[in-house]
Amino acid sequence: MKVLYIGGTGTISSSCVAESVRQDMDVHVLNRGRTAGVRPLPDGVTTITGDVQDPESMRQALDGASYDCVVNFLSYDAKDASAAVDLLAGRTGQYIHISTASMYHKPVRRVPFVESTTRHNPYLTYAQEKIAAEDVLRRAYEERDFPVTIVRPSHTYDDARPPLPGDWTAWDRIVRGDELVVPGDGTSLWTLTHAEDFAVGLAGLIGNWQAIGEDFHITSDEALTWNEIYDIIGRTAGTRARLLHLPSEFLPVVAPDWFWSNLIIGDLSHSAVFDNTKIKRFVPSFRPAITWPAGARRLLEWRAGHAEHARPNPETDALLGRLVEGHQAAVAAVAKLAP
Ligand SMILES: NC(=O)c1ccc[n+]([C@@H]2O[C@H](COP(=O)([O-])OP(=O)(O)OC[C@H]3O[C@@H](n4cnc5c(N)ncnc54)[C@H](OP(=O)(O)O)[C@@H]3O)[C@@H](O)[C@H]2O)c1
Repeated sequence: MKVLYIGGTGTISSSCVAESVRQDMDVHVLNRGRTAGVRPLPDGVTTITGDVQDPESMRQALDGASYDCVVNFLSYDAKDASAAVDLLAGRTGQYIHISTASMYHKPVRRVPFVESTTRHNPYLTYAQEKIAAEDVLRRAYEERDFPVTIVRPSHTYDDARPPLPGDWTAWDRIVRGDELVVPGDGTSLWTLTHAEDFAVGLAGLIGNWQAIGEDFHITSDEALTWNEIYDIIGRTAGTRARLLHLPSEFLPVVAPDWFWSNLIIGDLSHSAVFDNTKIKRFVPSFRPAITWPAGARRLLEWRAGHAEHARPNPETDALLGRLVEGHQAAVAAVAKLAP
């Protein structure tokens, strides 16, 4: 099985590459060769240099090559999807498009999500553009037999990156006992998936010809509240997480440029619980096993060995600190108003 990964050294894709190598596939990886440091590729992978933003570099990189399957982690909108169809039609037996579960209907109407849940997210441009990409690929399948399989990860992490608004900065605030802002009251349900679990589902779809024309999400079966997610980090680190609950709507107002503000409003503040029956039917070996307590332990161990890659970001820390101070000031101001 000759498979090409576009991406391949990212948070999710590097575990998928490792799983494909473990399953004795002939694995090729295309990227710019810039970010392998944190997640080195396993032995036996063929590397190709190319830039998906530069169509000419992609044509040159893939000149004359053909694959049993191409897995594209770097297709974000209709333009990217059209470019992939033009580049790869007739040259791959299967094309796996990495989409996102953020596109399931927000506000949430019904859980658990199934693959037929209506795709609609008026809050998040990212999700709207991923819907448009799926539509291009679905049309290419219907009209041109382009052999697409759509995969929608939900919030997926690996040992090198905690799945938290604020990444290692949020983790660090919990560990050192500083208050951490939690949007809302922290009781909505959220699903965190370890990339190694995801990878078993994804690799099982490669060369699975019945999966062509189908869509799948691949997630953990464990749903936790945000309060539990943070409490578990505290317990893992031997401390108690100090959480400060603020209305989610507050974040885009006071921190409009923070990457996570929109994601919280459009995704993380809603409940996300998944029915994984479909992927388990197509890939019986998919049995997500890494619970969040286990994942948090792995993150803690990884950080201990890679301190240089897991430092808090001073700007993010200052922003989170300002939110805490602002809340304390507001509490004091309201107290003064008391009769
Ligand atoms: N993580 C999640 O929670 C989540 C949830 C839903 C969907 N997704 C989807 O998952 C995908 C991201 O996967 P990931 O997390 O594994 O990736 P990632 O962590 O964003 O890593 C990016 C990868 O792509 C390569 N790359 C970046 N820009 C490139 C370019 N212009 N040309 C060629 N290669 C480039 C990088 O290597 P170089 O820098 O060396 O080029 C690296 O291998 C996205 O489609 C995203 O929408 C993720």
